[in-house]
Amino acid sequence: MLHLISVIGLLAVAQQALAFPSMAQDFKSQSHSHKSKRVNGIAPGFDADAQRIDVSGDHAFLPPGHGDLRGPCPGLNALANHNYLPHDGVATIDQFVQATNQVFGMGVDLAAFLSTYGAVISGDLTSWSIGGPPGGSLLPGLLSQPQGISGSHNKYETDGSPTRGDLYQYGNDFLVQLSQFKALYEKQSGDNANYDLDVLTQFRAERIAQSKAEDPYFFSAPFAGVAVQPAAYTFIYRFMANKSAEYPEGILNQEVLKSFFSITGDDGNLQYTPGNERIPDNWYKRAIGDEYTIPYYSTDLNVAALQHPEFLEIGGNTGTTNSFVGVDPSNVTGGVYNSKNLLQGNNLACFGFQAGIQAAPDLLKGLVSNVTGAVNKLTGSLDLSGLGCPVLEGIDESQFSQFPGYTKLNSDGSY
Ligand code: HEM
Ligand SMILES: *[C@@H]1O[C@H](CO)[C@@H](O)[C@H](O)[C@H]1NC(C)=O
Ligand SMILES: *[C@@H]1O[C@H](CO)[C@@H](O)[C@H](O)[C@H]1NC(C)=O
Ligand SMILES: *[C@@H]1O[C@H](CO)[C@@H](O)[C@H](O)[C@H]1NC(C)=O
Repeated sequence: MLHLISVIGLLAVAQQALAFPSMAQDFKSQSHSHKSKRVNGIAPGFDADAQRIDVSGDHAFLPPGHGDLRGPCPGLNALANHNYLPHDGVATIDQFVQATNQVFGMGVDLAAFLSTYGAVISGDLTSWSIGGPPGGSLLPGLLSQPQGISGSHNKYETDGSPTRGDLYQYGNDFLVQLSQFKALYEKQSGDNANYDLDVLTQFRAERIAQSKAEDPYFFSAPFAGVAVQPAAYTFIYRFMANKSAEYPEGILNQEVLKSFFSITGDDGNLQYTPGNERIPDNWYKRAIGDEYTIPYYSTDLNVAALQHPEFLEIGGNTGTTNSFVGVDPSNVTGGVYNSKNLLQGNNLACFGFQAGIQAAPDLLKGLVSNVTGAVNKLTGSLDLSGLGCPVLEGIDESQFSQFPGYTKLNSDGSY
C-alpha cells in the first residue's frame, strides 16, 4: 500500500513536471530512484516449485513443423513450441487464458480480454491463429476467412513494435528484424545485463522515433497504438524475466532474452530462426498471486507515459517520413479524454481498452454476420472495474482518413 501511495504521489509530481518543463529533469531522477520499488504494492515472494516451468517430456521444445503457424508474438510462439498451446498454433480462448496464466503469470483479466479480442477480430469468434490464416472451411456466421494475428495490422498488430518490423516498411509484421533486436540487445552487456522497464522504455522511445523517421506509413491507432504497443515492451520484462528468491521481480539477461526471441549465436554473430522461440531450461515465472493484471499494466503505462509524453500520441505520418501529425484525443473521444486527463488515474489504460471495444463494430463489418453479437462477446470479456474509468460512448475516427497507413488497409487484412 505504501508503494501504491508513493506512485500516486509520483504521478502528481510528474504531471506538474510536464506542465513546467524545468521540473522534468527532477522528475526523471526521482523516477529513477524508485525503479527498484514495486508499482502495485504487493511483495511478490518466491516459491521455486510453484514457479519453475517444466520444459521436459510433453513440454520439451519442439520447433514448428510443416503447417504449424507462428507469428508476431514471441510469448505465444514459445507456448506453442512447448505444447502449452496446441502445436499447430491455433487455440481456443480458454486455452490461451489457461496457458498464459500457467506459464507466464498473466492475469486472467488481461488474458481473457486479449484472447477474446483475438477470437473476435482475427479468428472464428471461439479460436484463432497465432500466425497466419488457419484455412479450413468458412464457419457459419463468418463472412470471410479469419486472418490470424499476423494479419491483424492496425487492429491488433501495430507499428513501432520492439523487434518486429513495420508492415509497410518491411512487407511483413511478424518476423524479427535483426537490426531492431540488436538495438535492444546492445543496450546491456555481460553478466550484469538486465533488460528491465527502464531499458525497454528508452528503447520504445527510440523505436517510435525510428518509425516516424523511416516509415512513411507509420500509424498509431487508439487500441493497437495505446493499449497494445506499450504491452509489447512491458511484456518483455514482466513476463520473460527469470524470477528468483534474490530477484523476485526477475532478471532478464542476454541468454534468456535471446531464447525467447528465437536468437542464437554470440554477440558478434547473432542469428534469427523464425518461429523457434524457446522457454529456457531452469526458468522461473512470476510468483503466484503476483499476476500481471490490467490494473498492474495500467500503472506501467502511466510511468512510461510520464517519462515520454510522445507515448500519448495517436496519429501517423502522412505519406512521407518525418511527417507525423497527431490527432487530439478529445476529438476522437467526443471530449471524454484529452491530452491532459489521459495522465490522470487509469485514464490511459481506460482509453486504450475502451477504444478496442468502440472501434470493433467498424472492424467487424465484412468479417462476421452478427456484429452486435461479436461486440457483446468482446464487451463481456473486459473487466475494467478496478480502474474507475469514465464512460466512453463511441469514438470518431474521421480524422484518420489523412493517414495512408490507416486507409491503405482493406477489411480482409490485405493492403
Ligand atoms: C492471449 C495473450 C496474448 C495475445 C493475444 C498476444 C498478442 C500479441 C500481438 C497481437 C502482438 C503484436 C503486437 C505488435 O505489433 O507489437 C504481440 C506482441 C508481443 N507479445 Fe504477445 N500476446 C499475448 C501474450 C503474450 C505473452 C504471455 C507474452 C510473454 C512473453 C507476450 C509477449 C509479446 C511481446 C514481447 C511482443 C512484441 C514482439 C516484438 O515486436 O518484439 N505476449 N502479442
Ligand atoms: C534463474 O535464476 C535462478 C536463480 O538465480 C538460476 O538458478 C537459473 O539458472 C536462472 N535461469 C535462467 C534460465 O537463467
Ligand atoms: C473531429 O474533427 C473533425 C474535423 O474538424 C470534425 O468533423 C469532427 O466532428 C470532430 N469530432 C469530434 C467528436 O469532435
Ligand atoms: C446476435 O447476437 C445476439 C447476442 O449477442 C443475439 O441476441 C441476436 O439474436 C443475434 N442476432 C442474430 C441475427 O442472430
